[in-house]
Amino acid sequence: MTTNIIELHDVSKSIHDHVILHDLNLEVRNGEFLTLLGPSGCGKTTLLRLISGFENPTTGKIFINGKNVDGLPPHKRHVHTVFQSYALFPHMTVFENVAFGLRCRKLPKAEIATRVAEVLKIVKLEKFAQRKPDQLSGGQQQRVAVARAVVNRPLVLLLDEPLSSLDYRLRKTMQIELKQLQRKLGITFIFVTHDQEEALSMSDRVVVMHEGGIEQVGTPRQVYEQPQNLTVANFIGEANIFDSEILSIEGKQLGVNILGKPRNAKSSRSFELGQKVHILVRPEDLRVWKQVDVDDSKDMLPGTVEEVIYKGTTVDLMVRLSNNQIVAATEFFDEDDDKLEYAIGEPVFATWVPGWEVVLPHETL
Ligand SMILES: Nc1ncnc2c1ncn2[C@@H]1O[C@H](COP(=O)(O)OP(=O)(O)O)[C@@H](O)[C@H]1O
Ligand SMILES: [Mg+2]
Repeated sequence: MTTNIIELHDVSKSIHDHVILHDLNLEVRNGEFLTLLGPSGCGKTTLLRLISGFENPTTGKIFINGKNVDGLPPHKRHVHTVFQSYALFPHMTVFENVAFGLRCRKLPKAEIATRVAEVLKIVKLEKFAQRKPDQLSGGQQQRVAVARAVVNRPLVLLLDEPLSSLDYRLRKTMQIELKQLQRKLGITFIFVTHDQEEALSMSDRVVVMHEGGIEQVGTPRQVYEQPQNLTVANFIGEANIFDSEILSIEGKQLGVNILGKPRNAKSSRSFELGQKVHILVRPEDLRVWKQVDVDDSKDMLPGTVEEVIYKGTTVDLMVRLSNNQIVAATEFFDEDDDKLEYAIGEPVFATWVPGWEVVLPHETL
């Protein structure tokens, strides 16, 4: 049985009649790495502020560790936040920065020393205890900020875009470090990012947010491979989207047509005959064949090569289809890699393995 460390029941937040968050229902499992993912302005920080108690919800209830926290001040919630700016005290050493919260709580000196040493060891900063923040690298400052929060032994650690100011390589390293640290500490992390790759690579589960609402909650694999709707599909990864219509239904097997060509598709959702749908195909699932190599093209989509982008491990192709729609395909090298020599303007067919598409009900965005 999994227990929920945090539950949100029908939570909403309005500021001066402006709805910032609406109808939020969410269960955060004890010990998980949960990521709030969504574009800037969708309400991620506001949601963290409701959980930490710096703001109160307009409607709904929040439970932390089984207890309704309505009216409970931040310092009594056992929830700590790591901010993007780290907010370290510049005049204090690493040790003093980490000890600060414990000193405020007037813990015995010896206990403070033990706990700070323990946490500095976990974040691999035991040799840096006497340094000041400006004598540390960006990644080390980040670790001090985390150490300062976890030394209080919170039930939940909230991290609001903590990696967004780091350069690309440090960011990649810190992603792995934070994930390992979370596993080692066993504390629930609620991590915020607008970067979908970061969310997919770090999380046990991802909460996809859009305009103040939750669009989907699932494992990285679920939100990528089975997006709930077009918003999720477009925000996570790249997707080629075709307009189509359901022509036949036999259990999970669907007959659809794409650019006038009949195709088979598969979905565990239910659809009606004649229903308008979107067919979504990820670039890595779209295959491109030179027309001269194809004998039977009855369910393939004709087009011409618009652009060829060499990426080292892959070649990305942009293909202009007969209706002028441009689709993206990622081709992987194999032993026969001259197959990947494409000329601009070359006639090709685009296709994919039936069943590898995602069928979504039609939406007007
Ligand atoms: N104190 C406030 N007063 C008015 N509007 C606010 C306030 N705080 C946030 N907002 C608005 O709420 C929306 C969500 O903001 P925020 O939670 O910071 O989003 P995110 O962290 O996802 O970028 C934004 O449109 C923002 O302008
Ligand atoms: Mg924010």
